[in-house]
Amino acid sequence: MASPDKAKLLIVDDDDEIRTQMRWSLSSDYEILQAGNREGALQQFKEHQPSVVLLDLGLPPRPNLTDEGMNTLAEIVQSAPKTKVIIISGQGERENALEAIGRGAYDFLSKPVDTDELQLLLKRCFYVAELERDYVKMQRQLNEDAFEGMLGNSEPMQKVFGLVRKVATSDAPVMVLGESGTGKEMIASAIHKRSSRADGPFVPINCSAIPESLLESELFGHEKGSFTGADSTRIGKIEQAQGGTLFLDEIGEVPLSVQVKLLRFLQEGYIERVGGREAIKVDARIVAATNADLKKGMADGSFREDFYFRLAVVELNVPPLRERGEDIEYLATTFLKRFAAEAGNGNLSFSAAALKSIRSYAWSGNVRELQNRVRRAAIMCDGNRVSPEDLQIPSSNRIPAGTTLKEAREALEKELVEAALAKHKGKITAASAELGISRPTFYELLDRLGIKR
Ligand SMILES: Nc1ncnc2c1ncn2[C@@H]1O[C@H](COP(=O)(O)OP(=O)(O)OP(=O)(O)O)[C@@H](O)[C@H]1O
Ligand SMILES: [Mg+2]
Repeated sequence: MASPDKAKLLIVDDDDEIRTQMRWSLSSDYEILQAGNREGALQQFKEHQPSVVLLDLGLPPRPNLTDEGMNTLAEIVQSAPKTKVIIISGQGERENALEAIGRGAYDFLSKPVDTDELQLLLKRCFYVAELERDYVKMQRQLNEDAFEGMLGNSEPMQKVFGLVRKVATSDAPVMVLGESGTGKEMIASAIHKRSSRADGPFVPINCSAIPESLLESELFGHEKGSFTGADSTRIGKIEQAQGGTLFLDEIGEVPLSVQVKLLRFLQEGYIERVGGREAIKVDARIVAATNADLKKGMADGSFREDFYFRLAVVELNVPPLRERGEDIEYLATTFLKRFAAEAGNGNLSFSAAALKSIRSYAWSGNVRELQNRVRRAAIMCDGNRVSPEDLQIPSSNRIPAGTTLKEAREALEKELVEAALAKHKGKITAASAELGISRPTFYELLDRLGIKR
């Protein structure tokens, strides 16, 4: 009887009696699946994904030979390498059993099978399988919250994380530089969380979002009656960051008058509220960020050099997404998993064409753009394969500049042929029908484009 709580065990043997016997002794502990030949075994295996399989090597049509059994073993191990396959071998077949172990079987038992021995071996197998599953899950989780919520296994990102760890231990001001959407705010917040100030506040302020006339009072606060509309005393962002970290986003947008005042705070550690006379001591670590070219600002006089050097004691460059190699795909699939679950569509994955377009797209909006496109695709996708169209990645972006018409045509042909082959699991008739061409033409294409079946 099927029970959702029991572990699944597949028994493959052509001898009905042996199967029945085993089922008798094992069904109280396991959910038993059975098969009497290779096809049946593989079908049950694909459908139920048992973590342990008991396999008799001598299967029909030639029960006296081991090839059907060996093939079954090979296919199971290839499709799910962690499966524990236990070989049940006849008397005097020790050699075959050893060969099977060489090909990926986990262990073997000789007929007649001793029930106690079998029980014990099964317990151990399921236990090991469970440990392995937990381990994989743990590793995945470790990766998921790899670094304060930031994903990134690529070398440039690992370097960035290393720098964050290092600067977090000091109080030095940090300047985070990077294109828009690269994760500058996340980096700033990671610096805070990794620092001894982690229990204090992290106060972000986007300097470009606040009108110039209000920025000073937003940052420094104001006393009651200091200007029209100031009907009560308010503390500013700097004071709010007392004991914590102040994140000055889009620092390149700060007007010169406010730069001077911020510079004074950086030098002396005191501020004055707008309209106030008292110097207030504030202990806040400063992290600033910009995607603008501050060197240009310094050259044309819109950004003070002394302010820059005070702010950028440490400079941290966050690389654009397109320079993060394998991370692009990793981030895309992680986001897809996340958003698909949110959209109640847990089975979504990218089509081969989608992955290809993700790899070659320029991602000028970086991680933010990737996140937005994947979020949208998770909602818009029909079925469970996300296509380049779901991601709204224009196809022209998949063809690099300088491509000849012939190259472009071949690239497109290759993409379509590969997609059709993948969709129909290598079946030429179905794949050629889908593309509306004859089988001979399809073979010609495979040849010409150098595609292996
Ligand atoms: N390495 C990463 N792993 C996971 N999510 C990330 C990563 N980097 C950025 N993000 C996500 O991408 C989005 C943009 O990040 P963030 O706001 O930190 O970037 P930014 O550089 O400050 O962007 P902008 O210049 O637009 O202000 C956020 O939703 C953030 O959660
Ligand atoms: Mg930002």
